[in-house]
Amino acid sequence: MSSFAPAPVRHYLQFSDLSADEYVHLFARAAEIKRKFKAYEKYHPLADRTLAMIFEKASTRTRVSFEAGMYQLGGSVVHLTTGDSQLGRAEPIEDSARVISRMTDLVMIRTYGQDKIESFASHSRVPVINGLTNEFHPCQILADIFTYIEHRGSRGAEGNALDCLKGKVVAWVGDGNNMANTWLQAADLLGFTLHLSTPSGYEVDQAVAGLRSSASYKIFKDPHEACRGANLVTTDVWTSMGFEAENEARMKAFADWCVDEDMMKVAQPDALFMHCLPAHRGEEVSAEVIDGPQSVVWDEAENRLHVQKALMEFLLLGRVNT
Ligand code: CP
Ligand code: NVA
Repeated sequence: MSSFAPAPVRHYLQFSDLSADEYVHLFARAAEIKRKFKAYEKYHPLADRTLAMIFEKASTRTRVSFEAGMYQLGGSVVHLTTGDSQLGRAEPIEDSARVISRMTDLVMIRTYGQDKIESFASHSRVPVINGLTNEFHPCQILADIFTYIEHRGSRGAEGNALDCLKGKVVAWVGDGNNMANTWLQAADLLGFTLHLSTPSGYEVDQAVAGLRSSASYKIFKDPHEACRGANLVTTDVWTSMGFEAENEARMKAFADWCVDEDMMKVAQPDALFMHCLPAHRGEEVSAEVIDGPQSVVWDEAENRLHVQKALMEFLLLGRVNT
């Protein structure tokens, strides 16, 4: 009988799947991988590795950043959607996981319920990355925090990249959705405070984020109060993918949750504005804010590429330093 026992597989299904120390490593790698990319320096640590990307919802940034990122690291990509695979014809998720993970080295999934990706991961031989579920969007917050560090981190020799977040306030204005849940986990893990303002009926649920305490976040009825003194103001669409049937009700409920110049004025004078995109100008954010001087949304979008390359490197090769 064979005594072969595969090494335990690390997945990235929620922001809390990595430790603060691992994030310090990941952000350092993202900076180095970005530097190599900008210098056209060839870096192919994932040669001969294949990433399967499964999309059950639409995407621009996630698709391009994972696909381009994997090729840039020397690997290759298989792209699957519900419509063009047996996933759309009710093949059990567990069977799909068993098969896909025998043929590829890494899987990224964008789907509906978190339970689906958890189920896939528990039957997968290879690491699984959450490319967005109804509950979480960890790759996006990875990019957002890296972007904050780039813009507001100190260049001193002491301490680590996460020090610039300590004691800071991030204001979340809008839906208590997958992004908000992920920010909750990030604040809990990395030591900043999250101010949340959501319309009534669209609040976050601490239990979904798996938080044991409410020490890292504060709830505000008035979105202006949530933004007061914030170092970063961030929002997202009023209607996330999968919730389109609620669109009309949401348009009414969210009318006062548009991040505009008045909200930015009560934040810190050097506050940044972020949005995961796609954005709807005139709904969750005014054109003046998203296209204004405090907005870093294009850096934020680009950084999806660099942080996910660091994430794929980490999940497949562990801690490398080249
Ligand atoms: N922010 C984000 O995940 O964008 P896509 O939906 O375009 O992938
Ligand atoms: N909350 C949004 C994010 C899109 C990137 C959604 O789930 O549709």
